[in-house]
Amino acid sequence: MSFDLLARHYRWMEWVLAGNKLQRCRTAFLGQVEGARNILIAGEGNGRFLVECRRMLPHALITVVDASVRMLAVARDRLQRSGLDCHGVEFVHADALSWKPEQSAYDLVVTHFFLDCFPRRQLEQVVANLARGAAPGAVWLLADFQVPVRGLRRYRALLIHALMYAFFRVATQLPARSLSQPDDSLKAQNFTLRERRTSEWDLLRSDIWSRDEVHSQPLAMGVSGRGAVSIGCVTPCAPTAGRGLPAPPG
Ligand SMILES: C[S@@+](CC[C@H](N)C(=O)[O-])C[C@H]1O[C@@H](n2cnc3c(N)ncnc32)[C@H](O)[C@@H]1O
Repeated sequence: MSFDLLARHYRWMEWVLAGNKLQRCRTAFLGQVEGARNILIAGEGNGRFLVECRRMLPHALITVVDASVRMLAVARDRLQRSGLDCHGVEFVHADALSWKPEQSAYDLVVTHFFLDCFPRRQLEQVVANLARGAAPGAVWLLADFQVPVRGLRRYRALLIHALMYAFFRVATQLPARSLSQPDDSLKAQNFTLRERRTSEWDLLRSDIWSRDEVHSQPLAMGVSGRGAVSIGCVTPCAPTAGRGLPAPPG
């Protein structure tokens, strides 16, 4: 599986197919995480969210993990061209299924249009892996596709998903053949849904989840980025322990 071939085309393809709709989903809750200091963005792709995140949080440490070296390069270029401060942004080339984030290091985890890449058997694993890096009280932002429960909108969504998965299967050898919802995997990691906004006839969702303050993960520092190649970093590279975010509404 690799998004390398698509990296340079991703932006115009998104613009043609969805205009600004996906970007609105990605940034829907950005205004609610102003206190984030240590951010993990998994499967960031070409960096559109990263730029807005950096604009909003100029002093946060940000770790961007992606399995596509070309996507990471495009994301880094985009950030540099934006004129925003790139210091404290680390780009990590790694498979999120095996990469181990520093335990409890992040107060914000972001997975936009990323968890839909995984079949059910891998979804639980990737969520558990990323959740390892989330501190108690951490927030998880998630934008993705979804399947409406009933009606015409359900069949519309299923048709769009079928076309989308067929395309990505050919273009990237994506392992998933259909959409698996990550809700149960997030709940299993002590995350609770705070708010969900849906759009496009319930085809798209933006979620804000937060981790219960009390859970069983011990705070252990010093196990950083195993299974990864850091391909670009301005000191400080290593994320520090999360400070927790203000409680989201709800
Ligand atoms: C569908 S794109 C989404 C990109 C972007 N987050 C967005 O909002 O459009 C999925 C991204 O996840 C990355 N990806 C897919 N599987 C991955 C894995 N196992 N580990 C890390 N990154 C992965 C791909 O390289 C790609 O950049």
